[in-house]
Amino acid sequence: MQTQALKERIATELSRSRSRTALLADAVDDGDLVKQHSPLMSPLVWDLAHVGNQEELWLVRDVGKREPVRSDIDELYDALRHPRRERPKLPLLGPVEARGYVAEVRRKVLDVLDAVRLEGDPLVDRGFAFGMIAQHEQQHDETMLATHQLRVGEPVLSAPPPPAARVRVAGEVLIPAGPFTMGTSTEPWALDNERPAHRVDLPAYYIDAAPVTNGQYAEFIADGGYDDPRWWTPEGWRHRVTAGLAAPMHWRRDGDRWYYTRFGRTSPVAPDEPVVHVCFHEAQAYAAWAGKRLPTEAEWEKAARFDPASGRSRRYPWGDEDPTPRHANLGQRHLSPAPVGAYPDGASPLGVHQLIGDVWEWVDTDFHGYPGFAAFPYREYSEVFFGTDYKVLRGGSFGTDPVACRGTFRNWDFPIRRQIFAGFRCARDPRPGEEVD
Ligand SMILES: [Fe+2]
Repeated sequence: MQTQALKERIATELSRSRSRTALLADAVDDGDLVKQHSPLMSPLVWDLAHVGNQEELWLVRDVGKREPVRSDIDELYDALRHPRRERPKLPLLGPVEARGYVAEVRRKVLDVLDAVRLEGDPLVDRGFAFGMIAQHEQQHDETMLATHQLRVGEPVLSAPPPPAARVRVAGEVLIPAGPFTMGTSTEPWALDNERPAHRVDLPAYYIDAAPVTNGQYAEFIADGGYDDPRWWTPEGWRHRVTAGLAAPMHWRRDGDRWYYTRFGRTSPVAPDEPVVHVCFHEAQAYAAWAGKRLPTEAEWEKAARFDPASGRSRRYPWGDEDPTPRHANLGQRHLSPAPVGAYPDGASPLGVHQLIGDVWEWVDTDFHGYPGFAAFPYREYSEVFFGTDYKVLRGGSFGTDPVACRGTFRNWDFPIRRQIFAGFRCARDPRPGEEVD
C-alpha cells in the first residue's frame, strides 16, 4: 500500500475505534461510568483512559519520540499491575479528565502519523504500531460492551437486529486429512501470537457446519446435562458444582420457557441463534453429551482457512478480502449473534459457516506460542499468558471489530469465564468404517 493510502487507512481505523469508545462511554451517565458493574470488569472510565494511555506509550513516546502527555498516570492504567477487581479503588481520572486526556493524546498521535516514515523499524513497518493500537482500542470496546451486558438498569444501547437465516445449515463437514498452513508471516497487523506461518498436518475429522445453537443447548439442559458428571471433566464438574451453573449466563427459566436478558432487554431465547455466554467447561460437557468433542485450535483454523482447490490458507473463510456486512456479524452492528444460516457468503471453501463473527468459539487448546514464536513488541503482549491456565477462543463475536479479527486471530481466557461473548462448535474423529477420502 502507498504510504499516503496507508496513513489514511490508519487515520480511519483510529477514528472508527474512537467513535465506538465514545458511543459506549457516552451511553451511560457519569455515575455509571465510574461504577464497577461486576468484579470481573473495570469501571468503563478505566478502559477509556487506559486506551489513551497505551496510545500515548506506544505512539506518542515510542514511535513519535515526543514528550509524555501524562507520565504520572502510567502506573494506574497498567493492566498487569492492577487486577480488574482493584481498579475502582484507584485514584483514576474522572470522566471529564479522561475524555480530555484521550483527546489530547489523539491530537499528538495524528501529528506523529503525519511525520512518521512507515518503514524500516519493525515497530512502524507497514503501520504495525498504529494497527496494534487501533486493535487494542477495539478490543477494549468489546470489553466495554461486555461491561454493558453486566450493567443493571434501563437499556441504553440499541442496534438493528441481525439478518435472518438465508440458507439451512446443519450437520457436519468432513475436513480431509493433510497438511495446511496455520498462522501468518505476512499479515502486516497480525500480532506476535499469530506468527509465524507453519505447516500442521492433521488426520481427517468432522466439524460442525455451524456453532451450537440455543435450541440445541436447551436440549442438553432438558436432558439433565448439568446434573450428570459423566459429561464433565473432573475440573469442569468441580466448577459446575462450586459456581452452581445450571444454564448459560443471563438465562432464566419461566415455566417451561427460557428467557435471556441482553443489554437490559429480556426476551424468549431464540432457538436458532448460536449459544453465547457459556464457559469452556460447559462447552466441553455439551460436546461430550452430543457424542463429540471440541475442535483443537488447529482443527478450527484449518476448517476456516484451508482451500483444497489451491492448497493455500486464506485470510478469512470467504477469501482474502476484508470483512463486509455480507460476510460476517462483526463490529457491534447488531447486539446479538445472528441465526445460523444468516451468512452463506461467509462460509469457508469446505462449507463451514459463521466461523468469523457472531460468537467467539472455545477450542480445546491451551494458549501457547507457535513454533518459532518471537515476542513482539513486548513480552507482556502474549508470552506472559502462555501455559495451561488459558484456553484459546477463535473467530470473534458480534462485539469484535473487523480490524481485530482475522482467520489467524487468537484470543484467550480462563476456562471458567462466561462474561465474554463466547460459544462453540463441536468436532469429532471419524468413526470406524466411516468413509473419509
Ligand atoms: Fe489493554
